[in-house]
Amino acid sequence: MAKIIDGKRISAEVKDECKERVKREQLDITLAVIQVGNDPASTVYVGNKKKACEYIGIHSLAYELPEKTSEKELLELVEKLNKDDEVHGILVQLPLPEHIDEDKVIRKISPKKDVDGFHPQSVGALSIGQAGFVSCTPAGIVQLLKRSGVETEGKECVIVGRSNIVGKPMALLMLRENATVTVCHSRTKNLKEVTKRADILIVAIGKPKFITAAYVKEGAVVIDVGIHRNENNKLCGDVDFDSVAPLASAITPVPGGVGPMTIAMLMNNCVEAKGIQEA
Ligand code: GUN
Repeated sequence: MAKIIDGKRISAEVKDECKERVKREQLDITLAVIQVGNDPASTVYVGNKKKACEYIGIHSLAYELPEKTSEKELLELVEKLNKDDEVHGILVQLPLPEHIDEDKVIRKISPKKDVDGFHPQSVGALSIGQAGFVSCTPAGIVQLLKRSGVETEGKECVIVGRSNIVGKPMALLMLRENATVTVCHSRTKNLKEVTKRADILIVAIGKPKFITAAYVKEGAVVIDVGIHRNENNKLCGDVDFDSVAPLASAITPVPGGVGPMTIAMLMNNCVEAKGIQEA
């Protein structure tokens, strides 16, 4: 039976390290969080981000803008926050309403304040091994692996999913950790054959319980990025936990695996942002 990788415990560890640093170095940090409209999932995420800031001792400025906010108004707000020396991190919660071009808004955020790591300059820096903010979910997965003692060097890492937020930055991070990386997606042929090569299998495809034991090599480490509600209103991931856990050497549960790491890494990026702007 697999060891359970406890994301709740590890995220608490990361957050406590941030809290300790903020206190020790007496850091005065402000994160601006912008939400446009009232998508219920976004409201929950934004609320959790504000709570995490409070726990760590980071000030949060909440901008709750109406659905009808224009692209121009949003771009002007981002520009104002870019110029404000009291603001260290800027986060625009996605998705944005359809009439707003998300890419344009992300590009407007100063790379020095891009705590989500979504700006093309942040992604470019990651791809050529330079310093910059890293997208929080993949950065959190690296912490889960490191803090669970999973060796990455020379290992076969297969990533299922190629999104800009998870799959692609994940591949770059695992390369940085010296793994041999394969990225699979919806057009991959013989997916099972590829995933069965993985020593470390990272799944972010957005399909409930898609990865069963038939896709997994015995002894693999399995990381599940998905989160869904099943027919009984219970949370489940992209991995069929009950069938995969007996075969894997370690596995993240849903909930309590990857999920809690995203906010912990956001807090870490806010602390880093303060350091960059003071330098
Ligand atoms: N929407 C869903 N996840 C995220 C995230 O990590 N950052 C932002 N800004 N929006 C999101």
